[in-house]
Amino acid sequence: MLPSQENGLSLEQAPPLRIPLSFFAMAPISLLAAGFLLLFREGGAPLSRLDPVSFAVAHCLALGFLGSVMLGALYQMIPVVAGKRVPWVWLAYLVLPLFVGGVVFLVLGFLGWMNAGFTVAHHLMGYVFVLFVVPTAFALFKAPSKTDTVWGMRLATLSFALALSAGIVLAIARTGKPLYINSNWFSWVYTHLELGLIAWIGGLLASVSWQVIPMFYLANACPKWARKAMLFGQFFTMIAPLGALLAGAAPQTIAYLSVPGALAVFLLHPITTAFMIKARQRKRREASLIFWSFGLAAGPLVLVFGVLSVTSMDLRFPLLLGWTLLFGWAGTILHGMLTRIVPFILWFHRFSNMVGRPGVPTLRDIYPERDARVGLVFHMGSFALGLLAILLHSSLLYHALGAGLSLTGIWLGLALTRALLLRPARPGESKVA
Ligand code: HEM
Repeated sequence: MLPSQENGLSLEQAPPLRIPLSFFAMAPISLLAAGFLLLFREGGAPLSRLDPVSFAVAHCLALGFLGSVMLGALYQMIPVVAGKRVPWVWLAYLVLPLFVGGVVFLVLGFLGWMNAGFTVAHHLMGYVFVLFVVPTAFALFKAPSKTDTVWGMRLATLSFALALSAGIVLAIARTGKPLYINSNWFSWVYTHLELGLIAWIGGLLASVSWQVIPMFYLANACPKWARKAMLFGQFFTMIAPLGALLAGAAPQTIAYLSVPGALAVFLLHPITTAFMIKARQRKRREASLIFWSFGLAAGPLVLVFGVLSVTSMDLRFPLLLGWTLLFGWAGTILHGMLTRIVPFILWFHRFSNMVGRPGVPTLRDIYPERDARVGLVFHMGSFALGLLAILLHSSLLYHALGAGLSLTGIWLGLALTRALLLRPARPGESKVA
């Protein structure tokens, strides 16, 4: 299907092409960075959750890979889905370097390679808070459209702001300053995680899926009761852990408060989305749909590892939880969406006004199915290597995982570059360049 008004989307309002694309370009670079961190990790000791490399890889994935794609997608989707332009959208050109700089310095801080890493990172992320969150939240709350997807995007943007703030407090505390309000370190960490992983990443993935799955795959709409239940889970996760943290709650209490949001995001969303996809009208099984299937299947696995992390003393479970959540669930779904959304917006910006002329590429010409399928093999292969490395405590497998992640990043980068280089033919040429 090609982009059009028929989807109920007003694509004319979309921002300049280079805004979402420059954010998306950070995805392969971040995968490569995470891969290199594991590939060149010194020492043969098994990785633990509190290892500096674990924190650094977690943020390369959570912020560099997932975060960049999600920020770029919000710039793209707010005007199209909510029907309101993001004001001062040119600020995106400042947000990107500030955000990337924030991630780089955060990683340098975690690795202990730069004393001032955390200080620089929390300042840069503070600017991101103002320059990204204020205009996007303004557009979302002023938008004429009030669909469930728009509500999910609103809550997700606020949750991003709160997760960022909790991260900034933790980064300041890492420089030796005392924690604000609640002095329990783990109460802050759990609040940071629940806001970032469930209300921000989970909330945005779920609400965007209600819009894009029926649109891209001619699938059924998500039932209204399920959308409302997921929005409730997201809202609860946005306010309850934070309220408990500010009231001085212990980490266990904050952990239990993640239950409604976690059930919504890792159980209800996969189940309802699987039903929507199963009942779709177009039965072709394209690569992006297989990415969705694997990603959704990882959701319940996240729940299993979550339960095992709190009920067992085995230190591998928190690592399995983080890896499955960041790379197996959210990473797989977002990688698949890139293979679908990038050709969609490229076609719209570059070729939609050439329809009927010879040589106009289809979405598949822009991002060939083969490129997406090879990316899927690299992605799922890396995910399996990660599970094995953690389960077997094998430093050899961690190095192999580093190679796998790097290859996934390189392949994604090549496929995106190839898509970007496809331009309309100049007058006199019959084929696209
Ligand atoms: C908004 C998206 C974010 C997500 C999804 C996220 C995710 C994570 C994850 C998975 C961990 C590991 C926690 C653990 O296993 O104990 C973590 C810890 C941490 N994060 Fe973030 N993070 C985000 C943003 C940030 C930002 C913007 C900063 C700083 C400016 C930050 C600073 C930290 C710090 C300092 C820790 C270490 C806590 C400790 O020492 O135990 N995070 N985060």
